[in-house]
Amino acid sequence: MNDRSVKTAVVTGGGHGIGRALCRRLAENRVKVVVADIDGDAAATVAAEIDGVAKKIDVSSEEAVGELVADVETEIGAIDMFISNAGVGFGDGDSGAISAEGGMISTKDRWGLCWNVNVMAQVYAARAVIPRMLERGGGYIVNIASAAGLLSQIGDAAYSATKHASVGFAESLAINYGDDGISVSVVCPQAVATRMIGIEDDSDGVAGGFGGNEVDGILQPAEVADIIVDQALSGRFLILTHPQVATYFQRKASDYDRWIGGMRRFRRSLAK
Ligand SMILES: NC(=O)c1ccc[n+]([C@@H]2O[C@H](COP(=O)([O-])OP(=O)(O)OC[C@H]3O[C@@H](n4cnc5c(N)ncnc54)[C@H](O)[C@@H]3O)[C@@H](O)[C@H]2O)c1
Repeated sequence: MNDRSVKTAVVTGGGHGIGRALCRRLAENRVKVVVADIDGDAAATVAAEIDGVAKKIDVSSEEAVGELVADVETEIGAIDMFISNAGVGFGDGDSGAISAEGGMISTKDRWGLCWNVNVMAQVYAARAVIPRMLERGGGYIVNIASAAGLLSQIGDAAYSATKHASVGFAESLAINYGDDGISVSVVCPQAVATRMIGIEDDSDGVAGGFGGNEVDGILQPAEVADIIVDQALSGRFLILTHPQVATYFQRKASDYDRWIGGMRRFRRSLAK
């Protein structure tokens, strides 16, 4: 499959941030884009801008994800690319990595929400769409994880653990279905200028980030979307929008204990 053969794509979390930029980039390539988001107004705004289709959905419901896939295939056409981009992060509460509640963004069950949105929603999407893609002989699955899924996000244990699970699930998909024409990509960015790191959509501000994730610079969603779409279409599994992450990942693998020591030092430096 190449760029031109992607006619229909679904982007979850398409109402804001990286998802919105992915919708715009795909629409530039004449792809019919389904903008799926729990924020129905934001999805409608993006869909109107790109002549796409808005769907209000909570991706943590398997039933809703199944209905989304079935409805899109009936109403619009075969889904050639499904991008599971919706994600949440709350920050550790007062008790640090063991806390149940959220810190920076208040919630009582940050672990449950992170598992359901960052991991299970990607499982539900794959379950719903891969059998259809297999029947057609191929398709693209693009799952947005995070550099925290290869390394760690200081100050957010639930985010780090669930993003590792997202990477692990994408590996299994690639190994299981790669021979059958399913191209699987997992995306592991560091800081991107979105609401997730405290930067509003379309704001000029570049001050944001937390827990040191901004250390290598904050990319704009549009640059990240270009990298993701180009590399997914070229069939790359691991998409690193911030190339330094490859070096950090190699250092971690080559001496895990030393890497943990370095991260402790980094955490202490952030607390000063
Ligand atoms: N911004 C960063 O620095 C950064 C870095 C690495 C990875 N990521 C990942 O990128 C992805 C996109 O995040 P973003 O930075 O654009 O943040 P964002 O908060 O701007 O966008 C997230 C989108 O997901 C939607 N969403 C949240 N829960 C949902 C649900 N249950 N059902 C449907 N939609 C839901 C939100 O409404 C929003 O439109 C996430 O998976 C995030 O973890 C972001």
